Amino acid sequence: MAGSASFSVGGGRADLYEGRMTLFVVLACIVAASGGLIFGYDIGISGGVTSMDDFLENFFPTVEHHKNQLTRNQDYCKYNNQALTTFTSSLYISALIASFGASFVTRRYGRRPSILFGGLSFLVGAALNAAAVNLSMLILGRILLGVGVGFGNQAVPLYLSEMAPAKFRGALNIMFQLAITIGIVVANMINYGTATVRPWGWRISLGLAGVPALLMFVGGLFLPETPNSLIERGNLDKGRALLEKIRGTKTVDAEFEDLVQASEKANAVKYPFRNILEKRNRPQLILAILIPFFQQLTGINAIMFYAPVLFKSIGFGGNASLYSAVITGAVNVVATLVSIFTVDKWGRRILFLEAGVQMFLSQVVIGIILGEKFGGAKELSKGFAVLVVIVICIYVSSFAWSWGPLGWLVPSEIFPLETRSAGQSITVSVNMLFTFVIAQSFLAMLCHFQYGIFLFFAAWVAVMSLFVYFFLPETKNVPIEEMINVWRQHWFWKQIVPAVDTYAAVQRPSVVVHSQ
Ligand code: BGC
Repeated sequence: MAGSASFSVGGGRADLYEGRMTLFVVLACIVAASGGLIFGYDIGISGGVTSMDDFLENFFPTVEHHKNQLTRNQDYCKYNNQALTTFTSSLYISALIASFGASFVTRRYGRRPSILFGGLSFLVGAALNAAAVNLSMLILGRILLGVGVGFGNQAVPLYLSEMAPAKFRGALNIMFQLAITIGIVVANMINYGTATVRPWGWRISLGLAGVPALLMFVGGLFLPETPNSLIERGNLDKGRALLEKIRGTKTVDAEFEDLVQASEKANAVKYPFRNILEKRNRPQLILAILIPFFQQLTGINAIMFYAPVLFKSIGFGGNASLYSAVITGAVNVVATLVSIFTVDKWGRRILFLEAGVQMFLSQVVIGIILGEKFGGAKELSKGFAVLVVIVICIYVSSFAWSWGPLGWLVPSEIFPLETRSAGQSITVSVNMLFTFVIAQSFLAMLCHFQYGIFLFFAAWVAVMSLFVYFFLPETKNVPIEEMINVWRQHWFWKQIVPAVDTYAAVQRPSVVVHSQ
């Protein structure tokens, strides 16, 4: 039965793992998670900046002109301009490509170098953007920001999932998403302030992106590498010493053996991107593609990027719209905490499924209110405008404890070591591709579908929830290097994944893991 695919530890010998959550691991994870700040800051800043008149006048004068000339029944189309969306989207294309470079660096040289490089590139991009005097400088800056995000989003989730003890992996990994949401809301607040600094407030908004980048880079200098990566690259003694340190105990034999075994398999694999196409990696590959695809099809970024624009389009004044964006941003942060506290107790599936219902219903309600009460000659009354903001908050909160954090957590924890880095870069690139597609098309879709856009996303939420129900196994508390057992026990995937681990059987007969 589909829903019964939940196991507490996934078989294997997880019970033999020892160790607790040490202060050292928590600190390392906080520092690494700060990598999420750069991504979040950018998501939060772009929407606000692209609705600032001074910024538009400087770089996109036609949008400014067009906006001021619209009649009421073109409300939904105020900001529909391809050049403007290219500004927002260029970062995502660059991050998409960069994530493949990051995959190579992360596997060959370690997780930490990718984090450092990501921070540095973002820093330079921020400086270029703040100083931009023409569109080329602006776009070049965004490309560098994209490289930063590509490296950060590829390396940080892996880093967190590998450092964390299995029992707390969900919570520690979600600190990445928490950092993303903090980045978004801080950026929203900064925009709120800089919108009043005329005519160059937008430069402050774009330049301050350097602060989280600096944090990520300087913090990264102090980070240890993960034991998994040290062992994979042949540093067994160092890897064991680090494992003892982060688990706070000398009895780490079972986990260490699993890591050594995983690294032997990893080293037998020369071409991870070819290996990932093999049948035994099929379930992970499918999820690495579908999870980020679905995450974006929730429609969250229609709200995150364009909240101020969206609120303006549906009739809020300039300040009121930025203010509402700050409210949704704050809800996003607080609701992420819910998943931190529950994901390792209740599991991933329940969060996905509950949120699926909540997101579906709230989108339908928003669609109905806007359909009935707004557009054409109708103005959204104050009461309904407030109602829309409340329902948007209900929607955002459910995303924040489900597809937001789990969209990064699940792909980072399901791959075996040999394909983990390649798998994560596929996830990043699919995520970026569809973030790009949504960013690029949302304003046009809003213009043509109008309120129907919310019903469109609601339909996707229904599809993805069904997918989770049938095809996503529970991964809570399963040690990362024992994840293979989860597929072997799943009603559907067990037909695809071989029952015996062929590499392990040949190389280390004493530690073959048993499926239940
Ligand atoms: C997603 C972003 C989104 C953010 C909102 C992230 O997990 O990848 O696209 O904007 O969550 O909090």
